[in-house]
Amino acid sequence: MSDLLVSADNISGIKNDLFLQALKGNKVERPPVWMMRQAGRYLPEYMVLKRKYDFFTRVQTPELVCEITLQPVDIIGVDAAILFSDILVIPQAMGLEVQMNEGQGPLLPDPIKTPEDLQRIVVPDVAERLHYVMDAITLTKKTLNNKIPLIGFAGAPFTILCYIVEGKGSKTFDKAKAFCYQHPIAARQLLQMITDTTILYLKAQRTAGADVLQVFDSWSGLLSPADFESWAQPYLLQIQQALQPFCPVILYPKGSWYAMKDLADNGTMAMGVDWCIKPQFARELVGPHVTLQGNLDPAKLLQTTAEIRTDVHNMINAFGAQRYIANLGHGMTPNIPVDHARAFVDAVKEWRG
Ligand code: CP3
Repeated sequence: MSDLLVSADNISGIKNDLFLQALKGNKVERPPVWMMRQAGRYLPEYMVLKRKYDFFTRVQTPELVCEITLQPVDIIGVDAAILFSDILVIPQAMGLEVQMNEGQGPLLPDPIKTPEDLQRIVVPDVAERLHYVMDAITLTKKTLNNKIPLIGFAGAPFTILCYIVEGKGSKTFDKAKAFCYQHPIAARQLLQMITDTTILYLKAQRTAGADVLQVFDSWSGLLSPADFESWAQPYLLQIQQALQPFCPVILYPKGSWYAMKDLADNGTMAMGVDWCIKPQFARELVGPHVTLQGNLDPAKLLQTTAEIRTDVHNMINAFGAQRYIANLGHGMTPNIPVDHARAFVDAVKEWRG
């Protein structure tokens, strides 16, 4: 690891703290890089564990979480690790059954369909219900030995509501949206329960050792700007305001470019963006003080490694190297060759301003 990566005000004790410096807005020699869904099915090493243990066994066993979290650190050379887990551990902890079926994605066999169904869920004691996550963070931090920072995460309340009401993945989540519009009081009660649980959960992740927290609003882009303001933003901001005093928080409201200015005006310090917005426009919307993260279309990783390199350099030049974290615009897909993931990371490391 180059000594240059350790900046003068390295107070975290982390050897490569580029990611933390970019979040703080300190000057860096190159942008840090990591990839959403960097731990997963495109890695043969992950597939070995996937064949041996079912999904929730992998998620609930700290030794497996630690091993899977560190795989892309060793194999791809990213500047930040993200804990291997899933956003759906929250509905599980609140009392709903969640299955992860091969080839079908998540299934909640008994979703919330009516306001009365809310009686079936609770704001849980997260230390008790999700202790395995905190144990995994402690073990992973110890094993990382301050090499790079560790990202903890949760789903945003609107995205979690989508799964809790729809019961499975969907392109439109029309049942979930209809629940909000037909039962607004119950929907707000549900969003507040998810928010309260998520704040407790992320605080516990921070206490266990997570250096940065990311909140995934993967489906917020299905909302109109006015509905985002009503059904997503208030809950995202509650989480941001509760956690940001303790550590950097990155909000990733996928598809909701229209909300970026408002989120920045409300104190959001870092935002993830997808590929449907021009880097220059994203910067105009949030102003000079927000760190931006993104935004290569993961499908572009199927190009040749030379093309990936050109795209990455263009992306960095468009965002600018400061207050910027190189990443994809959404998660890695299983069909991406490992060499191409490595080419993405190497291209960031090779970039010179
Ligand atoms: O990024 C990482 O490397 C950390 C691990 C991580 C997973 N899920 C592991 C996982 C993270 C950050 C998530 C978040 C997550 N989970 C989101 C938000 C991010 C996004 O992609 O928008 C969402 C919407 C989910 C819900 C979820 N979990 C879905 C829709 C699926 C099925 C996806 C599929 O392609 O099958 C999952 C399962 C899941 N979570 C897998 C992994 C590696 C794949 C299943 C497996 O490996 O057995």
